[in-house]
Amino acid sequence: MSEDVFKKIVSHCKEYGFVFQSSEIYDGLSAVYDYGQMGVELKNNIKKYWWDSMVLLNENVVGIDSAIFMHPTIWKASGHVDAFNDPLIDNKDSKKRYRADVLIEEYLAKIDDKINKEVEKAAKRFGESFDEGMFRQTNPRVQENQQKRDEVHTRFAKALNDSNLEELRQIIIDCEIADPISGTRNWTDVRQFNLMFSTEMGSTADGAMKVYLRPETAQGIFVNFLNVQKTGRMKVPFGIAQIGKAFRNEIVARQFIFRMREFEQMEMQFFVRPGEELDWFAKWKEVRMKWHKSLGFGDKKYRFHDHDKLAHYANAATDIEFEMPFGFKEVEGIHSRTDFDLSSHEQYSGKKMQYFDPELNKSYTPYVIETSIGVDRMFLSIVSASYCEEELEGGESRVVLKLPPALAPIKLGVLPLVKKDGLPEKAREIIDSLKFDFKCQYDEKDSIGKRYRRQDAIGTPYCVTVDHQSLQDNMVTIRYRDTMAQERVMIDKLADIIADKVSMKNLLKTIG
Ligand code: GAP
Repeated sequence: MSEDVFKKIVSHCKEYGFVFQSSEIYDGLSAVYDYGQMGVELKNNIKKYWWDSMVLLNENVVGIDSAIFMHPTIWKASGHVDAFNDPLIDNKDSKKRYRADVLIEEYLAKIDDKINKEVEKAAKRFGESFDEGMFRQTNPRVQENQQKRDEVHTRFAKALNDSNLEELRQIIIDCEIADPISGTRNWTDVRQFNLMFSTEMGSTADGAMKVYLRPETAQGIFVNFLNVQKTGRMKVPFGIAQIGKAFRNEIVARQFIFRMREFEQMEMQFFVRPGEELDWFAKWKEVRMKWHKSLGFGDKKYRFHDHDKLAHYANAATDIEFEMPFGFKEVEGIHSRTDFDLSSHEQYSGKKMQYFDPELNKSYTPYVIETSIGVDRMFLSIVSASYCEEELEGGESRVVLKLPPALAPIKLGVLPLVKKDGLPEKAREIIDSLKFDFKCQYDEKDSIGKRYRRQDAIGTPYCVTVDHQSLQDNMVTIRYRDTMAQERVMIDKLADIIADKVSMKNLLKTIG
């Protein structure tokens, strides 16, 4: 999918009430967005699917909702005050600021693209007899690019691990990476930039305290670990899940809701015995990938990407990446966070953060596996994968969001054929009987064709048309979004027909 299609998706989101630029009438606020009437429904459904998959399907996972403001020492203990930095670099001609690591990653991705294109071309040329492994090992162009990639990648990984800012700059110079705007290679030094927003709590006369807007929800879970463990009588292994806002002063805030300054996370910290963490890490990787794939967009859209640089708290880390319109990008991070956070909070707070394991008859600081997914990125991945432009018979076309029915904002459009003769009343009757189970939308304006298009554009899986015959036989024409097939069904069968496909329960059953 191209950047062009991405632009169309962004305008579609605005046109149909999914996502608006924040403060739009004041010319907007960069990298901050509002969800509209359709967006909020889709977002709530995504959150519900995640929440239920965690706390309904796992007896040993419970939820919390901690405050956004927390004691500032928490961020010292977590390492965010000292180490939550991005390396930034400015182009002196365009005056634009970039993340040095992102410039290099994009350069590496371009080489990958070149290699993959060679492979695809050869696969087409040789057909069934094509041996990809052999081709990659012997084709001189692929070999040359692969070697270049490996060399840069090794230098890059080492520079990140050593936090060597000069070397990051040198890689940008050596690879001749140019600013996409000015086209020049006139770069400043690379500097570290802390991503946390801060504000003040209390009046200045009393001595205001500097507090941070949380950059992740995870710390609210760590500091409540013993509260939940004791009051919930939880036994290790167990998990705590949370959904909530997080804030980061991102340097490069681009690509719509992919990188925002205010966003929402769905995080789960799973507390395990020390030494068992890597098995649990593997298990949660599998569980989380299954959750993503259950949405039915095709397995090829997902991949794992293991980290080159482990965060200061991790001993294993991977991302689940999704093929966005602008390439494979991280949607979820899975980290084995060791006992870093609990031990650090123990040290900074002076309070014990240990668990007494009755089976082992000893106390220890649990290790933690974290799964952390951005609601907004998940939203973007779903909308991008669902967006289809279709040519229809008779030269017409339609834009349809093929959303998984369980996540669709509206489940049923109810359309009286005409605005008179008792048809609107019959349509309202149908909504009244279904509204307790499904979000329905009544629409009587314009032709039936136009009304179908409007429902297609917001991803409504079913529409029913009420006509004069309906008053006689209590039947309606149901129209299916994806196939556009239509059939006549009894009104009292509608609930069953719709429930089967739109039920969150059925979706959960595919992974539970
Ligand atoms: N507690 C771990 C943590 O926060 P992360 O990889 O920095 O890890 C987790 O973030 C997820 O949060 C990411 O995979 C992404 O989906 C989402 N996320 C992070 N920064 C974001 C941003 N600026 N805008 C939107 N989503 C973001």
